Amino acid sequence: MDYDVIVIGGGPGGYVCAIRAAQLGLRTALVEESAVGGTCLNWGCVPTKALYSATKLIHQAGSGSEMGISFAPPKIDLQKLAAWKTGVVDTLVGGIQTLLEKNGATLLRARGRLDGEQTVALSTGEAISGQRIVLATGSLPIQIPGFPFDDPYVWSSDDALALSEIPERLAVIGGGVIGLELASIYNRLGSRVTVIELLPEILSIVDIDRRTIAILKRALKEQGIEILTNIAAESFESTGEDATLHTKTGEEIPTDRILLAVGRRPNTADLGLETIGVEPDRRGFLPIDEDLKTNADGVYAIGDIVAGPMLAHKASAEGVALAERFAGHETSAVRYGVIPQAIFTDPEIASVGLSERAAKEAGHEVLVGRFPFAVLGKALGMREPGGFFQVVADAANHRILGAQIIGAEASDLISEAAIVVQAGLPLETIADAVHPHPTLPEGLKEAAENALGRAIHIANR
Ligand code: NAI
Repeated sequence: MDYDVIVIGGGPGGYVCAIRAAQLGLRTALVEESAVGGTCLNWGCVPTKALYSATKLIHQAGSGSEMGISFAPPKIDLQKLAAWKTGVVDTLVGGIQTLLEKNGATLLRARGRLDGEQTVALSTGEAISGQRIVLATGSLPIQIPGFPFDDPYVWSSDDALALSEIPERLAVIGGGVIGLELASIYNRLGSRVTVIELLPEILSIVDIDRRTIAILKRALKEQGIEILTNIAAESFESTGEDATLHTKTGEEIPTDRILLAVGRRPNTADLGLETIGVEPDRRGFLPIDEDLKTNADGVYAIGDIVAGPMLAHKASAEGVALAERFAGHETSAVRYGVIPQAIFTDPEIASVGLSERAAKEAGHEVLVGRFPFAVLGKALGMREPGGFFQVVADAANHRILGAQIIGAEASDLISEAAIVVQAGLPLETIADAVHPHPTLPEGLKEAAENALGRAIHIANR
């Protein structure tokens, strides 16, 4: 065997698995045809967050007058903004390459295709053999009939992140996570954005309560984003000047670009699965057992090509767990119930563990504590009074089952909750811990206190 472990796909699942396997002394190869880091680093999480923070600056500068500070309207140098975003990505890509090298993993620049259970044929013409093979090939944007990605009017999320122009009007098909994050970015850059969602509600695949959705929708509307629900986009026609989007119910929406964000699908085509007898399920996901193994001996799968949320940190957790198991460690299984989610809209939304509804459905009698940002000194000073903290605990033993936060920095604030949910700790752990004042995490402490009927800065129920 050339290697103990061959990983196909260098995204946050694959590269993390390769680094950890190499750290543990396994002879490891990572096969990746383009830049390491995958969608997350090159076309997803990282560039989106770079643009999220850059455009937040525009928003903040425009809303400073209430605090007595005004700026001239921003000038946007799109080329420079794109170069800056690419710089952030390139720095991290370079970092990962160095880490692979330093840990002794071999990076093979090629497309890999299975040729039986222990062989990977490379597009360079070589073939390599491995004791174990990990498939980590990620996902691709879904196309729907009537909106081909090769039409210049139709953007995938990759096109939107390329920052080639700021369209005057942007129609976003899909009110999911990608649609809303990119709608927010382009709205701040100056586009007039309309989001068209098929279902009665936005973000319906994410388990968040109606109160949170209502706050987000109100905020997005105030920012000037139009949201149309219960509407299926059907087709569009272009005149050369602009385009008109047609919906199934007969609406006509004039627009300059159309961003298609209707979900992602597992990327398993042309992977040689037929050579190992593995068949994707109806939706394209690879069936695996609890050890993340496919039905083929020695072939494993992680990340967006298997069931579970399509999130970078879920893929990385699976990559680490797998590498450690290969090295013979007693590694506990990935805790799928405690994978936090963060949505980078304004306000941000973050959650971990069970929602109130899910906790009740699972048979818990619950204690719910809430605390609004509007009474946190730090939040008011930041001019970020919108949103709330919520903790859901089991009424019998006070164990915290989940937490949801909508508001400023929610994506950072959720980690404290993730630790207590994962550790199975009670409300008192957060409520009794002295938190520095004035800070945003005080909101989580007061929400836990509120669940116990002893919050100081709001009336307890
Ligand atoms: P999504 O599944 O979140 O949302 C797609 C939306 O499009 C759905 O609400 C669906 O009802 C709607 N839709 C489908 N067909 C339609 C039509 N013909 N007309 C109008 N609406 C239609 O998928 P999205 O946003 O593309 O994201 C893909 C994956 O990437 C998700 O699993 C998400 O979790 C992940 N992701 C996570 C991020 C985060 O956690 N911050 C950021 C970006 C992506």
